[in-house]
Amino acid sequence: QALQSLHTFALPHHCRRIIEIDNAEQLRSLDFTEPFCVLGEGSNTIFITDFAGCVIKMSNKGILIDEMDTHWKVSLAAGENWHAVVTHLLDKGIAGLENLVLIPGTVGAAPIQNIGAYGVELAQFVDFVEGYHISQAKFERLSNTQCQFGYRDSIFKHALKDQFVITRVGLCLPKYWQPTLSYGPLQTLDPDKITARQVCDTVIAIRQSKLPDPHVLANSGSFFKNPIVANTQYRRLLACYPSMPAYPAGNDSHKLAAGWLIEQSGLKGYTVAGVRVYEKQALVLVNEGHSSGAILCQVIQHIQQCVNDKFAVRLEHEVRLIGSDGEVTIVESNN
Ligand code: EPU
Repeated sequence: QALQSLHTFALPHHCRRIIEIDNAEQLRSLDFTEPFCVLGEGSNTIFITDFAGCVIKMSNKGILIDEMDTHWKVSLAAGENWHAVVTHLLDKGIAGLENLVLIPGTVGAAPIQNIGAYGVELAQFVDFVEGYHISQAKFERLSNTQCQFGYRDSIFKHALKDQFVITRVGLCLPKYWQPTLSYGPLQTLDPDKITARQVCDTVIAIRQSKLPDPHVLANSGSFFKNPIVANTQYRRLLACYPSMPAYPAGNDSHKLAAGWLIEQSGLKGYTVAGVRVYEKQALVLVNEGHSSGAILCQVIQHIQQCVNDKFAVRLEHEVRLIGSDGEVTIVESNN
């Protein structure tokens, strides 16, 4: 069955079967012994070839809101669209998620990579993540701590990889709202006057000015993670490139801007047979519509190689790549 419309990078590959899950209970009857890939809206997953297994598309819906004295408890089904949830909650006067507005994809995908933007991460609000634990054949609820969240990271990428199908996410949103305006373009806003709706509108405007709309130009958002390097290397690089953007990441390391590294490697606009490094934000790769997984892999390796040659920094792709039997990692080639 065709996968092109099921992932936002829109490569024209196929899989053996697609099963849509509207009700979490359906998961109990699935055969998890054949290769499978759980998908939300496919905005962080790319099928780089035909997939010899079953795609499990999470489409269950439902938003439950509980008002407590000091906070809101919100329980969201995995198949809900993330952006729609953020705006729905704002319409009800429930703030906190406004910096994360317009992030593509579903609620169920959000904890896997701990979505984050403009100084806020999902992990700050997660109360629980519920899902079907495949080897245990039962539904389980994990606490925030059990999810082991990190920068674009969680237990769902490690110990529970291919083991846990997220069906519901619980958030806890304090009623006492304070804007998070620490990130670059938001710093000019006045924290005493701004409303959550205005933060939301500003984030939407920034994102729309830099990031291509996947409905118009196929892409998967930031393609690589911002690399975290030891302070010694950070200082060495800063001596050569005094204007290099970087953010402290703990006591001994700094997070560098992968988009900047790619741009400085002269790769903005770099194009191979329909895969292009986006001009307005070099961290994004776009598919002009007639490309293939093989070309994409070639471009990934070329970018990794150029950045490594110039800065001695290794870029890891953040997007999940699915090969014929399951997830694969592209490492630098030696040519
Ligand atoms: N930059 C360049 N050239 C570029 C791109 C960026 O010089 O082509 C510089 C910018 O000028 C800025 C710095 O790099 O000084 C950081 O750029 P930006 O603010 O655009 O953010 P980012 O680090 O590239 C991250 C997230 C985005 C998130 C933004 C805002 C990752 C991998 N990406 O991007 O998340 O929206 O910050 O918080 O952490 C995503 O994960 O898909 C995503 C879009």
